[in-house]
Amino acid sequence: MGILVTGATGNIGKELIRLVIASNTNAQVFAAVRDIDKARKSFALLAGLKFRAFDYEEPNSFNSALSGIDIVFLLRPPHILNIKKYYVPLLDSLKKQGIKKVVLLSVQGAESSAIIPHRKIELLVLQYQFDSIFVRPSYFMQNLTTTLLADIKAHNAIVLPSKNAKFNWVDIVNVAEACAVYLTAFDKYKNRAFDITGNENYDFSYVVSRINAITGATIEYRPVSPIRFILFELKNKMKISLILVMCLLHFLPRLQGEPKKSDVYVRLFGREPNTIDSFIRANKILLSQHQD
Ligand SMILES: NC(=O)c1ccc[n+]([C@@H]2O[C@H](COP(=O)([O-])OP(=O)(O)OC[C@H]3O[C@@H](n4cnc5c(N)ncnc54)[C@H](OP(=O)(O)O)[C@@H]3O)[C@@H](O)[C@H]2O)c1
Repeated sequence: MGILVTGATGNIGKELIRLVIASNTNAQVFAAVRDIDKARKSFALLAGLKFRAFDYEEPNSFNSALSGIDIVFLLRPPHILNIKKYYVPLLDSLKKQGIKKVVLLSVQGAESSAIIPHRKIELLVLQYQFDSIFVRPSYFMQNLTTTLLADIKAHNAIVLPSKNAKFNWVDIVNVAEACAVYLTAFDKYKNRAFDITGNENYDFSYVVSRINAITGATIEYRPVSPIRFILFELKNKMKISLILVMCLLHFLPRLQGEPKKSDVYVRLFGREPNTIDSFIRANKILLSQHQD
């Protein structure tokens, strides 16, 4: 069996590939990447992994990447907003190659929104009648050490249009663990959607207080309006496409009420998902290095 993982170099993809290979599956795992040489270096210690050149924005790359593959892990790279333009040709190619199984990384709440791009991909996957599993995670703890880290380092602050909205915090390791099970035992879980969440709903003010308490940092949480957020990040030279995604991701929860906690992870693994405190402890050095 051939498993193709797109977004292989990203948060979930990296962890997912490591876990699927560690599971000693008989399947051959392929990392679908834009830059094979670079990816080969970052996965250097993983024996048995193969690579396929693949670009969501280059339909010419689809057929060779998908050849001989049985199951595909799909996601939406955060900058891709035009779903029809990129995913229709991709799903056409999957069909042409005889691929029947898709695991899609979506997002919690996708089912109740007609406008978020992940829902548009879900609907296309259903329309094409693939056997599918939709994985819908909540808010990644790793945002603290990726997209939010530049402001922590440069301004000793987390600046967001979130006010006191609560987010459900999930560790990507737990999301990847679930995805690995869905890829390797696909038939058992197929044609369902699963929310993968942590057990904690906290606002940014609380999470920042935990970072400071655990690491000794003095980070400030600065809630701002969406407009102020956009202006602030433009000044910081963040790409406009990322600013808009970040703005929506952090503003919408103000309108949505408290996120739901799911017991899917506990039922899958018989243990609790990771906590925000354990994540902060594991990333203590990174989170406490403010550049004066
Ligand atoms: N952040 C959150 O809190 C959160 C919560 C729930 C769901 N999600 C969803 O999770 C998804 C992102 O997953 P992630 O965090 O694991 O990814 P990520 O770390 O943002 O990385 C994006 C991945 O997509 C690849 N990529 C970008 N453009 C590409 C293209 N044109 N063709 C092929 N590959 C491309 C990147 O590869 P390169 O190395 O080539 O750049 C990278 O591997 C998004 O859809 C997001 O909405 C996020």
